[in-house]
Amino acid sequence: TTTSGLAFDIQLSQARKTPQQRAEILENPGFGTVFTDHMVTIRYTEGTGWHDARLEPYAPLQLDPATAALHYAQEIFEGLKAYRHPDGSIACFRPDVNATRLNTSARRIAMPDLPEELFIGSIATLLEHDADWVPTTPGNSLYLRPFMIATDVGLGVNNPSRTYLFLVIASPAGSYFKGGVAPVTVWLSEDYTRAAPGGTGAAKFAGNYAASFAAQSQAVEKGCDQVVWLDAVEHRWVEEMGGMNLFFVFGSGPEARIMTPELTGTLLPGVTRDSLLKLAPELGVPASEGRLSTDQWREGAASGELTEVFACGTAAVITPVGHVKSEQGEFTIGDGTPGPVTMRLREELVGRQEGTRADSDGWIH
Ligand code: COI
Repeated sequence: TTTSGLAFDIQLSQARKTPQQRAEILENPGFGTVFTDHMVTIRYTEGTGWHDARLEPYAPLQLDPATAALHYAQEIFEGLKAYRHPDGSIACFRPDVNATRLNTSARRIAMPDLPEELFIGSIATLLEHDADWVPTTPGNSLYLRPFMIATDVGLGVNNPSRTYLFLVIASPAGSYFKGGVAPVTVWLSEDYTRAAPGGTGAAKFAGNYAASFAAQSQAVEKGCDQVVWLDAVEHRWVEEMGGMNLFFVFGSGPEARIMTPELTGTLLPGVTRDSLLKLAPELGVPASEGRLSTDQWREGAASGELTEVFACGTAAVITPVGHVKSEQGEFTIGDGTPGPVTMRLREELVGRQEGTRADSDGWIH
């Protein structure tokens, strides 16, 4: 029973993967393609609130074809990871921040808040029953995907849905990019727009990702790994990538400092982004939020003032950016290999997540 008073009805799977099947999957998990034996579901009805919390076998959902989420994209999600610590225990990284962000997203998409204890309770219940799915190999983890969909049946759009379904599914995760920590190449999208002022860019809203796929496909066609979004008004200021935030490193050695685009309301407030803004100064690297234009990016890389660039996110962890391409041409950051500041921040962050470094900021749950 959670402190919100909701008890989980536990229905165990009769078709669990065998230890051998699981071991094979965990050996090379990739990202987001295989799921654990169970999932959590909780229903919401206007007037009643959250009810019918369940742990049940992972299985397809049965939805009426006129379900609101399928037509009007009323769907939000979160992403966080569970790690196996050296003592065998299972740790989550800052789940309270994900719980808060889910509710920020919910308000923007006119969905109900989910109490934090129900969010954490859902994750704890799923991890308790699927504990064997948390990888023991350093660098691998169990990616948790909480999400909420609108379940009213009908095609009217005069009101948001009055019923919702919250779920948590889990998937063992290795490296998000095929090359591991090898530097990625990014594409500056100068014609498409991800998010406009007053829009939904700061919400972890499914529609933002749907809107990004055409540009992401264009990036891949140009031989890049990820699209970089620019602001909607001037198409000039760097905002974020397709599914992760960006950091720029200026200077080197004791002079190094990092900067990430400020939260203008059109970009996603990443948990890893927030963690690095706190962690870097603890390592003696000043960190700030600011803005950088595509011209400043190119000129900084050319003059050597801009020494490193990296992407960060729960899925991406910290991934160096080596090359930048756009309709104007292409350029390389530094010598195109992972930089020392990027790798030092990565080592410290992953160490705290995996429990091999002290949890000085109380981020481990
Ligand atoms: C995450 O890093 O958790 C994300 O949500 C990125 C995802 C779209 C793959």
